[in-house]
Amino acid sequence: MTAFPLEQLQAKVRAGLLEADPAQLAVAELLDRLARQLPDWKPERRGPLAFLRRGKQASPPRGLYVHGEVGRGKTMLMDLFYNSVSFAPKRRSHFHEFMADVHERIAVARRTHPGDPMPVVAESIVSEARLLCFDELQVTDIADAMILGRLFEHLFASGIVVVATSNSTPATLYERGLNRQLFLPFIALVQVHMDVAELQSARDYRLERLAGLPLYFCPADDRASAELDAHWDRLTGHQCGCAETLDVKGRQLRVPQAAMGIARFSFHDLCEVPLGTVDYLRLAHTYHTVVVDGIPRLDRDRREVSRRFINLIDTLYDNKVCLIASAAAEPEALCEDPVTAKVFERTVSRLMEMRSADYVASRGATRDGDGIAAGQAEG
Ligand SMILES: Nc1ncnc2c1ncn2[C@@H]1O[C@H](COP(=O)(O)OP(=O)(O)OP(=O)(O)O)[C@@H](O)[C@H]1O
Ligand SMILES: [Mg+2]
Repeated sequence: MTAFPLEQLQAKVRAGLLEADPAQLAVAELLDRLARQLPDWKPERRGPLAFLRRGKQASPPRGLYVHGEVGRGKTMLMDLFYNSVSFAPKRRSHFHEFMADVHERIAVARRTHPGDPMPVVAESIVSEARLLCFDELQVTDIADAMILGRLFEHLFASGIVVVATSNSTPATLYERGLNRQLFLPFIALVQVHMDVAELQSARDYRLERLAGLPLYFCPADDRASAELDAHWDRLTGHQCGCAETLDVKGRQLRVPQAAMGIARFSFHDLCEVPLGTVDYLRLAHTYHTVVVDGIPRLDRDRREVSRRFINLIDTLYDNKVCLIASAAAEPEALCEDPVTAKVFERTVSRLMEMRSADYVASRGATRDGDGIAAGQAEG
C-alpha cells in the first residue's frame, strides 16, 4: 500500500530528495488528515432510501485550499497527496484544463438537455471523479468567473471533495475582475467546504534550483541539449513527464512533454507551426517554465517564423514565465533579416533579461492574476 502523504514527505527528506521544511510539514499534516478521512467517505447516490444506508460517514470530509507564493512546494505536496490516496474515482488537473472541459460539457448539455445545463454538467463530472485536485486555481476569465459559483454549488452538494493549490487566497481570487459580485458565491462555497491553509515556506525552491545557473545555451548542440535535460530533471525531480493537450478555444494544442508546471518544446513545435497569440497566452497561463530546444538563426526565409518567435517571447515575458533555451547563437546574433532586425531588438533585450537571475526572482510578485486589471482575460 502506498504511504500517506506525511510519511512520503518524511521519506523523501530522509532520502535527501527534499529539504526539511516546517511549513511544508504543516501542510502535509493537513493533507495527511484528509487522506486518512477519505477511505471512510462513501459517497452514495441520493435516492429515496438514502437515509437507510449506514456504516459510512454521512458528509464528505472538508477539502483543502493551499495558497502561497511561487516555488514553495504547493504542487509538489498536492501531487504527493494525489498519488498517495487510493480513493477513487479521482481526478487531478490544471484548473485551466478543468474549466476548458467544463465549457465543453456546458455546450453539450445545452444541445442535449432543455433548461439549466449546470446540474447536468455537475452530474457528469461527479460520475467520473469524487475527488478533484486542481493545480493553480486562478480565475482571470469572466466566462469562468460567472459559472464557478453555480457549478460548485452542485458539485459540493453531490459530496465532491476538492483539493486545490493557488497563488491567491480565496478572498483575492478574480480580484478587480468585471462583475466580481457575481463571483463572490464561489468564494463563499470554498470557505464552507474547504479548509484554507497558507504554505508559509520562506524559500522559493524553484528559484533556488535555477539561481545562478545559465538558462540560455548556445550553440544548440548535444551539450546544450544535455544542459536542458539537467534543468528538466532538477525542476521536476527526475520525472519524465508526459504529453498534454490543451484546449484553445476549441482547438487542440499539443504539448510534447510536461510535468510540474513545466513544458518542453522543440523550436519547430512552437514557432514553425501555425500557432498564435492565444496559443502562447494559453501556454503562459498554464506553465511557469517553458524549455525550448534549438532556436535557429532567423534569416529572411524565416520571416513568418521570426514573427511567431517575437510574439512567443513577448507573451512569455509579459506573463513572467521562466524560459530555458538552447539556440544557434547569442540573442543579438539570432536575427539575420534586416527587415525584422528593428523589431527584434526588443526580443533580444527580453531574452537577455529572461536569462538573468533577477528576472527569475521577479516572477512571484506579478504572475498571479495577470491580465485582469489590464482586461486581457481570455474569452
Ligand atoms: N522541500 C523541498 N526541497 C527541495 N526542493 C523542493 C522542496 N519543495 C519543493 N521543491 C522543488 O521546488 C520546485 C518548486 O516546487 P512547486 O512547483 O511544488 O512549487 P509551487 O508552490 O507549486 O510553485 P507555483 O506557485 O509557481 O506553482 C520544484 O522543483 C520542487 O520539486
Ligand atoms: Mg505549482
